[in-house]
Amino acid sequence: MTRSLITGGFGFIGRYLALMLVDAGHEVTLFDIATDEAFLKRGNGRITSAKGSLANWAEVMDAVAVARPDHIIHSGAILPPASEASPQAAFEVNVNGSYYVLEAARLLGVTRVVYASSVASYGPDAPRDIVPNDFAQHPTGMYGVSKVCTERLGEYYHRRYGLDFRAVRFPPIFGLGRAASSGWTAFTSVAVEEAALGRPYAMHVAPETATGVLYIRDAAQSLADLAKADGAPLTQRCYSLHGFVVTARELAEAIVRHVPDARITFEPDEQITEFVNSIPQKLDDSLARKDWGWRPRHDLDEAVADFVKTVRGA
Ligand SMILES: NC(=O)c1ccc[n+]([C@@H]2O[C@H](COP(=O)([O-])OP(=O)(O)OC[C@H]3O[C@@H](n4cnc5c(N)ncnc54)[C@H](O)[C@@H]3O)[C@@H](O)[C@H]2O)c1
Repeated sequence: MTRSLITGGFGFIGRYLALMLVDAGHEVTLFDIATDEAFLKRGNGRITSAKGSLANWAEVMDAVAVARPDHIIHSGAILPPASEASPQAAFEVNVNGSYYVLEAARLLGVTRVVYASSVASYGPDAPRDIVPNDFAQHPTGMYGVSKVCTERLGEYYHRRYGLDFRAVRFPPIFGLGRAASSGWTAFTSVAVEEAALGRPYAMHVAPETATGVLYIRDAAQSLADLAKADGAPLTQRCYSLHGFVVTARELAEAIVRHVPDARITFEPDEQITEFVNSIPQKLDDSLARKDWGWRPRHDLDEAVADFVKTVRGA
């Protein structure tokens, strides 16, 4: 039986991943500052909560010592806008916390750590159309800086200690559970959720604003897949991923195909549109496809259909 420890396990991605790993027969421990008894029940006794902070070295060590995981999936972090409102807290959790996770793995004999990095690691110099996997990373916000720090730290642990560090770089993730307050790219998720609940929704971007997204089940699947991938073909420690590119108008049309009475309108805000337009649309995921067989399972229509079904079944 494989034992998995997920940091930030009660978060958006962590919850989908935990249920997916339980379905695959794993015992899962969720290390997080938050906990949720109702969610734990969905694991039929196979999901355990380890409450603690990534910013607390002893709590990280204790969680890893008690769970004795075969691998750690490190997805706990402070995300924008909170990371930029308090860069000091983001450094403590995202950078020091990553160091504590890697050290705990090294000291307690956990051989593999899989990390959730981000398109935000690239920064404003990145091309908008397609970003090569090894494009220079010069982020300007603390969140992006903390992602680059952890990628490089993980590579250091691999070189220095032979720790099997692996990472994916996600584009913005789209799915039920993405909070409306989690940054300006959350509108794609909120639009589907509101429509599925029968409520009107105004998108605050221009209709032709295009964004690259990855459906949540594909994001969770990528972490599960990379955690169990054969190490021999891996040519990188950090792999960029891509789902699909969609304009706000195409998303609205897809929503109407699945929720015929949806009421989606556009009330473009210049600043939000400009921000969404500044994010690279596509990360080149060809190395992930070649080295460990990565491929997203959901296109736009499959993602919206599954999203609506999930909202209505929740
Ligand atoms: N959601 C996206 O669009 C997206 C895109 C790219 C990368 N990522 C990365 O994926 C990972 C998961 O993101 P998410 O969308 O699930 O975010 P989320 O905010 O939903 O989940 C993060 C989790 O980390 C926990 N956390 C925060 N501070 C902590 C601390 N001090 N100690 C322990 N746990 C703490 C939170 O309680 C939360 O449960 C993050 O590393 C994020 O940077 C997410």
